[in-house]
Amino acid sequence: MTQPGIELQELIATMEQRRRKVEEGGGPERQQKQREGGKLTARERIERLLDPGSFLESSTFVEHGRNRLMDGIEAPGEGVVTGSGTIDGRQVFVFSQDFTVLGGSLGKMNASKVTKIMDLAAKTGCPVIGLNDSAGARIQEGVDSLSGYGEIFYRNAVYSGSVPQISAILGPCAGGAVYSPAITDFILMSRGSSYMFITGPEVIKSVTREEVTFDQLGGADVHTRKSGVAHLAYEGDEAVIDGIKDLLGYLPQNAREKAPVKPTSDPADRRNEKLLDIVTPDQRRPYAMQDVIRELVDDGTFLEIQPDWAKNIIVGFARLNGQSVGIVANNPKALSGSLNIDASDKAARFIRTCDCYNVPILTLVDVSGFLPGVQQEYGGIIRHGAKMLYAYAEATVPKVTLITRKSYGGAYLAMNSRDMGADVVYAWPTATVAVMGAEGAANIVYRKDIKDSENPAATRAEKIAEYKEAFDNPYVAAAKGYIDDVIPMEETRERLIRTFEMLANKEETRPFKKHGNIPL
Ligand code: HXC
Repeated sequence: MTQPGIELQELIATMEQRRRKVEEGGGPERQQKQREGGKLTARERIERLLDPGSFLESSTFVEHGRNRLMDGIEAPGEGVVTGSGTIDGRQVFVFSQDFTVLGGSLGKMNASKVTKIMDLAAKTGCPVIGLNDSAGARIQEGVDSLSGYGEIFYRNAVYSGSVPQISAILGPCAGGAVYSPAITDFILMSRGSSYMFITGPEVIKSVTREEVTFDQLGGADVHTRKSGVAHLAYEGDEAVIDGIKDLLGYLPQNAREKAPVKPTSDPADRRNEKLLDIVTPDQRRPYAMQDVIRELVDDGTFLEIQPDWAKNIIVGFARLNGQSVGIVANNPKALSGSLNIDASDKAARFIRTCDCYNVPILTLVDVSGFLPGVQQEYGGIIRHGAKMLYAYAEATVPKVTLITRKSYGGAYLAMNSRDMGADVVYAWPTATVAVMGAEGAANIVYRKDIKDSENPAATRAEKIAEYKEAFDNPYVAAAKGYIDDVIPMEETRERLIRTFEMLANKEETRPFKKHGNIPL
């Protein structure tokens, strides 16, 4: 109820003045400091992310949860800007932590602003984008701030697989704060101005005596090359934000929908003669599988995810005749394309991400096997490799496999063979499918014949040729129905497009369960 004598104009002026105060965040000086550090402010980031004029702010006037230590402290906007808007006309929800307000630290009411938009995103079936730039738990709020994190983590998990959640790390992200991004689908980092770690350099020094800088411990390169925690690294805030928009274009709004179709002028029947130069039958000649992928997909555009970690497997998004596809491919240029612990984790996670969001999966196979080694066994390659088997079998999206060259042993199965649930399996004439390569096989199976022979070298060569004749080609597997067709390399793009179109309405139901128990 308005007080007698107060004019409407005064009320409006008060509202505007309060709004301006909120919009100024920590004030011009701190914002200037933020810019000097090469960073955008929380609101500038939102502006860059969303379609012009589409931002609809929520919880604008929320204030911090008062307590004895917070008395007298001002926190305009409560250290986070939240709301909704559109990207390429599609609605998203966004929170952008404001480092100029108490270091963007997270208190109870700050968290409530974030959980509010997470709940709205889940109810309306829209992605959530988190722009993280925060000093972590707000120290003055004690357990309330821990509770705030808990409320966010809980929603990250509950909404996982329901609506896409994307995290940009654009500043510090320390302590428990890293676990919210870690539960989301993708983490994108800016080089030089962002970092993620559980315990910082000071604590590490006091506990283990190791000396390390912030960047060496948790910078973008560390997490996209060594730890595999983050998916993509960019130079600066603008590039990260543009990366989010690009990534979102391959994903649907939620788990009930399909990704948007992006019209292309690249003909569906474009022939792929180039492939004949890239892939030769000589297995000792490695090739860049990315070149194969770019030749096949629309406009040669491939968004590789985690390109610098576990390079022996390639994962990423592309489009075939406008339709988004997730691609999982061996990389013959790294570890001969063999599968190891990190590659299995990387692929399994990506397969599950595609399956959550109805993105069909194309698997390109050129794999020598699982990487042998004591460290691999001690590290649990059995447990990790099992994730890949599990993830492929679990996925109900359309799954097409193309064997480009070798496909051996357990890795043949792990790369989405027919028996693991592939809907369609193709091979090129260059493909060989066997338990192992002919040379290794001959050495084991014909060891005695070779040893007892008057001319062991000649016998060995003869046995290798015999084994090759028997197995080292795609036709044995094709004759048994494990391969649907051996296709001309030049016609691959058209064949894949037609096959995914044929599978577009695929539905597959599974027995009732709460959820599967993937080996972690
Ligand atoms: C409240 C904080 C704060 C915090 C910083 N500030 N950290 N306020 N709670 N956690 C305030 C500072 O007082 C300062 O306020 C402003 O934010 C900017 O901080 P600076 O130190 O001046 O900035 P900078 O030099 O850039 O250093 C950034 C920093 C450093 C490296 C992040 O601030 C820092 O180490 N902060 C503490 C980080 C931390 O230990 N967080 C708790 C993690 S544990 P003024 O008014 O001067 O601008 C955690 C548990 C969560 O998060 C568990 C969940 C399960």
